[in-house]
Amino acid sequence: MTNDPTPLPGEHEQELRAEGLNTSTIHVIGEAGISLNQVTKRYGENTVVDAIDLVIEPGEFMTFLGPSGSGKTTTLNMIAGFTSVDDGLLHIYGKPVAKLPPHKRDIGMVFQNYALFPHKTVMENIAYPLQRRKLSKDEQKRRVKDALAMVRMGDYGDRYPSELSGGQQQRVALARALVYEPRVLLMDEPLGALDKKLREWLQTEIKRIHREVGSTFVYVTHDQEEALSMSDRIAVFNNGKIEQVGTSEDLYEAPQTLFVGRFLGESTVLLGAGTPLGDRQTAISVAGHQVIANGQFAQQHLAILIRPENLRLEPAGVEATTERNSVPVTITDVTYLGASRRYTVRLPDGTEGAVRLGQEARIHNRGDHVSMVWDIDAGVLLVDTGEAGESST
Ligand SMILES: Nc1ncnc2c1ncn2[C@@H]1O[C@H](COP(=O)(O)OP(=O)(O)OP(=O)(O)O)[C@@H](O)[C@H]1O
Ligand SMILES: [Mg+2]
Repeated sequence: MTNDPTPLPGEHEQELRAEGLNTSTIHVIGEAGISLNQVTKRYGENTVVDAIDLVIEPGEFMTFLGPSGSGKTTTLNMIAGFTSVDDGLLHIYGKPVAKLPPHKRDIGMVFQNYALFPHKTVMENIAYPLQRRKLSKDEQKRRVKDALAMVRMGDYGDRYPSELSGGQQQRVALARALVYEPRVLLMDEPLGALDKKLREWLQTEIKRIHREVGSTFVYVTHDQEEALSMSDRIAVFNNGKIEQVGTSEDLYEAPQTLFVGRFLGESTVLLGAGTPLGDRQTAISVAGHQVIANGQFAQQHLAILIRPENLRLEPAGVEATTERNSVPVTITDVTYLGASRRYTVRLPDGTEGAVRLGQEARIHNRGDHVSMVWDIDAGVLLVDTGEAGESST
């Protein structure tokens, strides 16, 4: 059973070897699918995962999103059992797993480089985890057939990996991870090596498969569009911490930190010293113009973040009111996007903004001087943490 001669790259080898050693799985149902309580990982002096708290619901599609080096893979590998937890508690389906090896955690895993056995056919690749689990030949056949159908590869069972495209190979890897029906499927940038079109198609396929199998999916990506379109909830990682956990709408419309606001989607960010206005609003001076946002913070360095679809362009000199803000801008670029136009604008102090207007809006040209106007309610007031603007794209 364990004398397969084919070397596999890195972690996958570990996983498959682990599978061969023990077939027992976890059968304790807890309240949460996966829960992390103050989970910490250190490498020497570096704390790369810093006291993370997170509850992933059973059957949820949770995405870890964040820049390179922010701790996504390390956290996933702690859940998988490939990396040990230095501090804190980790439970999978109610069971503490910190001391359980990967093969006892009832998880499947898909990596960026699909690592199929080159000398085995597609069917043999998918049957492999079932052989290791000593399922009967009939049961193996049935499950392999179902798994192939699930990833829409029914006609490819007799091919070898070298006869498949990258996307097809990744679908086979997905089938192999799902064939033994794990309760948790972990995926680390599984579409990272594929081109955009194929990636988008496989995103919808993975979502469909998630709905069909009902397992808990944890998906790692640094692509914000991928995260926004696929996830039930997203955990945004930054520097070993989770900045915010929420639905795509939560994170886009109500970011709690400037990092989250900037990392997800486009935005215009106006920075300045805040002055309280009454007891529930704050004024910031931007390029000599007072702009207002709802909310107040003890900190002085603040930011107002506005999404491009919440900005309007109006004739130069339009005044602010108690309902709306207005600042003068110059249009520096116009991009035609079919249903809308995207304007890049510049404030007198050099701050850049992004405005998106539908087809019904008046068309402006590069070089035009206009007013950038938005409702006070549409701005999000945040603390300016001084981090450089970051974006995943
Ligand atoms: N075995 C290790 N020894 C020392 N440092 C490590 C080790 N593994 C990871 N790190 C460090 O931990 C930090 C987090 O790494 P991790 O792989 O979790 O990032 P990531 O968010 O997955 O990034 P990416 O998007 O580039 O994959 C990085 O600074 C990395 O250099
Ligand atoms: Mg990673």
